[in-house]
Amino acid sequence: MTDPSGPDGARKPLIAGNWKMNHDHFTAIQYTQKLSYLLDTHDYELVDVVLCPPFTDLRSMQTTLESDKIPIALGAQNCYYEKEGAFTGEVSPVMLAKLNVSYVIVGHSERRRHFGETDDVVNRKVRAVIANGMTPIACVGETLEEREAGGTDAKVSSQVVNAFDGVKKAEIAGAVVAYEPIWAIGTGRNATPDDAETTIAVIRAALAQRFDPATAEAVRIQYGGSAKPGNAAELMARPGIDGLLVGGASLDPEEFGRIIRYGSS
Ligand code: 13P
Repeated sequence: MTDPSGPDGARKPLIAGNWKMNHDHFTAIQYTQKLSYLLDTHDYELVDVVLCPPFTDLRSMQTTLESDKIPIALGAQNCYYEKEGAFTGEVSPVMLAKLNVSYVIVGHSERRRHFGETDDVVNRKVRAVIANGMTPIACVGETLEEREAGGTDAKVSSQVVNAFDGVKKAEIAGAVVAYEPIWAIGTGRNATPDDAETTIAVIRAALAQRFDPATAEAVRIQYGGSAKPGNAAELMARPGIDGLLVGGASLDPEEFGRIIRYGSS
């Protein structure tokens, strides 16, 4: 798994671009090179940067990142939980690990909604990702109806505890959680820094209660949902928010580069 701590021992910010079903392997290479020209060593010291392209782009991007020695980590958007076998259309975590994929997004709300992923499936995938030496980015978040009914805390707490069921404490400590309120995804309406911070504290408390406080303190918890250059700095200023999982605003390298450099004025 990846090391969650920065040079001072604190949780190092992690900014990941989830391209969803966008960019083919040609545009992915151009994008990767362009983003790498925009960033310098100092940026990578301050922030861990991850790109999560579609499966078909992974090999080309791996080659580009390794041959050009670009310190951007590769992430996948999903995987299956079995190693191999008769599972037509699925991609195994073993195959991803072979491509030097470091992170795998698991349980994104779009997968839960469009592809029927349950908490049980999410848990199997989290365990498979960890078993293959990669870091899961486990996604949790409430719908607008759940929020309006006062059900946010119960929803995210149960999702996060279920996602890590049966996982060893030391492995959870290196994992990543993304809090993505469903009503904020792709809507242009981000959670306020106050709301994001409050719910992230609830997620951390649920992990502390189910596992232990030290484990919960080590987990990096990102915010996702209409994150963009204009709101990245105020979200990242909150001490509980350890990073961003960016959808639409990660599709353009210049825009994503501005989010990564949220700290430079
Ligand atoms: P947007 O940034 O487009 O709202 O998407 C967020 C997301 O779903 C990242 O996984």
